[in-house]
Amino acid sequence: MSTSNQPSPAAFAFGRTRDWPGYFKAVAGGTPRQTLLDALDLFDADESFDSDSAFAIDLGCGEGRDTAELLRRGWTVLATDGHPDAIDLLLARDDLVPVEDLAERLTTRVVTFETLDPLPQADLVSASFSLPFCTPEHWDRVWGIVTAAVKPGGRFAGQIFGDRDTWASIPDRSHFQRSALDRMFSGFNLELLREDESDSQDAAGNAKHWHLYHVVARKHDRRVPNILSSHVH
Ligand SMILES: C[S@@+](CC[C@H](N)C(=O)[O-])C[C@H]1O[C@@H](n2cnc3c(N)ncnc32)[C@H](O)[C@@H]1O
Repeated sequence: MSTSNQPSPAAFAFGRTRDWPGYFKAVAGGTPRQTLLDALDLFDADESFDSDSAFAIDLGCGEGRDTAELLRRGWTVLATDGHPDAIDLLLARDDLVPVEDLAERLTTRVVTFETLDPLPQADLVSASFSLPFCTPEHWDRVWGIVTAAVKPGGRFAGQIFGDRDTWASIPDRSHFQRSALDRMFSGFNLELLREDESDSQDAAGNAKHWHLYHVVARKHDRRVPNILSSHVH
């Protein structure tokens, strides 16, 4: 692949067929996704931000590379995935052993996007390479849940797949034109939007055109400051 921010050829063949146990094995030991790291840098740049009281949701967490990074940095995390093996692998990670207060700071849930209930409000909702696997008929409801879960001033980080991606022709995938992103993120400032297009082959030799958008977006903060709200009757 052209960037280290995309699944390796050994891994992405499994994404095509939704062989998630095969995928988890192929990506074991991977580093956190760049969109998550970029979002964390933006939070850390705010001097008033305290990661020890921050809460993130990792949607489609897989074997937990991003959840583990959030926990190491002091965040509290709700990690969800549609496949039970993902949560088993996350909970068995060696790099979580030294994490303090793990039982208090990590909650896991096996749930598909298609059966997702409204989520609690979070400082960060991260969905690394997972939302494209939401079936299109459920997309609008799921996207509504995702955006509602981001607190005012909080962030979304992750990948949306593009319409020129090879997998866009697979009927159960959700892919979008660039113009759709402006609508999807209408309540947000796009802090990072990197459109990535490249050609590759998976480990089985299947040609794959990648077309995806790497996104970090901050939700508009429309809260009325306390100093004003005290005068509003
Ligand atoms: C390509 S993997 C990405 C995993 C991880 N976030 C990462 O960056 O390595 C996609 C993840 O989405 C999960 N997933 C796929 N379809 C799903 C669905 N319909 N509902 C919930 N999770 C799903 C898979 O189990 C898998 O863990």
